[in-house]
Amino acid sequence: MKRETFSSGLAVFFATLGSAVGLGNIWKFPYLTGQYGGGAFLAVYFLCILFVGLPIMVSEFYIGRKTRKNAVGALEELKPGTSWKYIGIMGALSSYLIMFFYSCVAGWVYFYLFKAIKGDFAGITMANAQSQFGDVIMGPVSPIIWQFIVMGVVATILAMGVKDGIEKITKTLMPLLFVLIIICDIRALTLPGAGEGINFLLQVDFSKLTAAAVLTALGLAFFKLSLGMGTMITYGSYFTADNNLFGTAAKVALSDTLVSLLAGIAIFPTVFSFGLEPSAGPGLLFMTIPLVFSQIPFGNVLLVAFFFLTSIAATTAMLSLVEVPLAYFTEERGVARPKAAIINAAVIAIIGILATLSVDKSSLLGSYTFLGRGFFDWFDYISSNVLLPVGGLLIAIFIGYRVKKEDLKRELSNHGRLHIDSILNVYYFILRYVTPALLLIVFLNSVGILKF
Ligand code: PFF
Repeated sequence: MKRETFSSGLAVFFATLGSAVGLGNIWKFPYLTGQYGGGAFLAVYFLCILFVGLPIMVSEFYIGRKTRKNAVGALEELKPGTSWKYIGIMGALSSYLIMFFYSCVAGWVYFYLFKAIKGDFAGITMANAQSQFGDVIMGPVSPIIWQFIVMGVVATILAMGVKDGIEKITKTLMPLLFVLIIICDIRALTLPGAGEGINFLLQVDFSKLTAAAVLTALGLAFFKLSLGMGTMITYGSYFTADNNLFGTAAKVALSDTLVSLLAGIAIFPTVFSFGLEPSAGPGLLFMTIPLVFSQIPFGNVLLVAFFFLTSIAATTAMLSLVEVPLAYFTEERGVARPKAAIINAAVIAIIGILATLSVDKSSLLGSYTFLGRGFFDWFDYISSNVLLPVGGLLIAIFIGYRVKKEDLKRELSNHGRLHIDSILNVYYFILRYVTPALLLIVFLNSVGILKF
């Protein structure tokens, strides 16, 4: 069977952006920025995107498009019979871990969409917003049902294929998401006291910065740009032959960061205007957005549109997460695509129940913690803060020290058709020296070997 590719440069851009933009921007970015003190965290996050995220993204694109294979097969082809393929296997493992909690949060988003359609948020107050969120996550049965619905949607789109599934959905809906967040921003910025929220985002106070905040910013950069776990290798394998890989990486990273900032601008003015705590944690999105649109004409219609688009963003990101093991099973193990889609989705939905039930701290599962974290938090912590950065470090070492510079130049210049000499030199230097050094320092510090 002929291997599929995306059909144009625009399709490549929207599909890749569809992977990057997701709950990471709308849910995780605002609440982490809130917990770690605003502007200073943001500044470190930008540096991580520039010096770690971008070079690794280009490297993953290179591995994928050069070999046109899934993450495991691609590394095996570049260095046959070596252990480098374990980067791909570790990637598939990270994909499952992320999906266990991601599908849970996506379930809350779908549930919120349903509640918005029913009109449950009409005339909502702050106390009401908090109690509705509590009811949604504590179910205990309804969040599990929504998690299963989410995985049903993901499996269906994936079974349709790369072009008819992933490409079609992302190309239509990503532009809409931008428009909607901007409408949200305009409303949030016109709330009384909005300026305080913007100050919180822009005031850089490095004295608030801790080592944990730096590690979190780094983990968030990986999570945001879908790096360190083979997603961009897999998507890169579907890129067109004439795509400018540097250009795509820059455009995706920039647009993705813009969406995160726009989400922050929608959320923080509301937090301050209604007297919520910026450090409220994972519920921040769910408690603020219904308030943004309360008491304005057409507020409920906008709320429905907002949660619809957040559902889309979450869904397109999940397509890319599940595509990593899916491409492996179809190409390396000969499993038919629809069958692989259904089995993977079912396994994720079933194990994901652990994450969903662990959120209710008064339940049996929720009160069970290991070293201070429950299932949900462990899945999140191990993937974002450990596996993705380790995967990224290995990719940087692989490309920086195991692949010849001429080979890189040939593929990244599309066999000499693009003039990339100066950008290639900058990229190569950063990838060999700066990226691994930064990753190592943050790591050694986080495990307590290096103290500063
Ligand atoms: N980038 C996605 C987000 O920010 O929501 C999440 C994600 C997708 C992480 C794909 C990792 C991945 F491979």
